[in-house]
Amino acid sequence: MTTRTVKQFVNLDFEPRAVRLNSADEFADAVELIDIVRDSLTEEQKVYLLPKTIDFMTKMHRAGNVVLGLRNDKNELIGLTIVRKLNHWTDIPNFEGLPFIEFIYNQTPCMLQSVCTHPDYRSMGLADRLITAAEEWCLKKERSRIVARIVVGNKGSLSAFERNDFEIMSQGIDKEDGYQFVYVGKKVEAPLVDLFSQNEQESEAPLATILNA
Ligand SMILES: CC(C)(COP(=O)(O)OP(=O)(O)OC[C@H]1O[C@@H](n2cnc3c(N)ncnc32)[C@H](O)[C@@H]1OP(=O)(O)O)[C@@H](O)C(=O)NCCC(=O)NCCS
Repeated sequence: MTTRTVKQFVNLDFEPRAVRLNSADEFADAVELIDIVRDSLTEEQKVYLLPKTIDFMTKMHRAGNVVLGLRNDKNELIGLTIVRKLNHWTDIPNFEGLPFIEFIYNQTPCMLQSVCTHPDYRSMGLADRLITAAEEWCLKKERSRIVARIVVGNKGSLSAFERNDFEIMSQGIDKEDGYQFVYVGKKVEAPLVDLFSQNEQESEAPLATILNA
């Protein structure tokens, strides 16, 4: 049996609002957040999170994927992730790594991309919330696996995924830039409904409700 360390987060004095980004203006916010997060990284770390364009976000959105965000009490975007529905292993470009290809071919999972938290809001549990929101979206789309690609050395990201029960599945090298990646993945399942605790918690809307269908 493994012993899980409970992470102590910095307390939030507001409740982050989970949103889906749909419009060009919202994609502009997303691109800006990614740029802010990249500015907070060292040159070596910038490969953890590659820059994105409004055009890329729009294409993702049109193809039936989703950009999930978290907004603070001033409606500023403070965290985001893109969740892609993979249909075939060729959906992942530039990747060497047979075990994962095998996996993807058989399972058609969702893939989390560009998970990021505004530098002023790190260590507050936002990554956990983004991952949970992504899992709920996957379930709605009837995908039962979720995966993510993490650059080797990105300890912060790896620790967030491991804390959320993702396991390292395979590793590979990006054909274009030579960076080493690991793929992490997990099975997503609908939570067991506990009717008693559900009655007690009626006032708290679950993320799934907030995110719409
Ligand atoms: C990875 C990331 C999304 C985690 O966000 P978060 O909401 O702070 O998540 P957590 O609070 O769970 O922190 C996870 C890890 O981030 C790191 N972290 C937290 N605050 C940090 C800070 N101020 N500076 C640097 N790293 C920090 C910690 O190493 C932490 O690991 P720990 O749990 O062992 O302490 C965020 O650090 C980020 O945006 N990183 C840059 C982009 C990136 O690497 N994305 C991942 C792509 S796969």
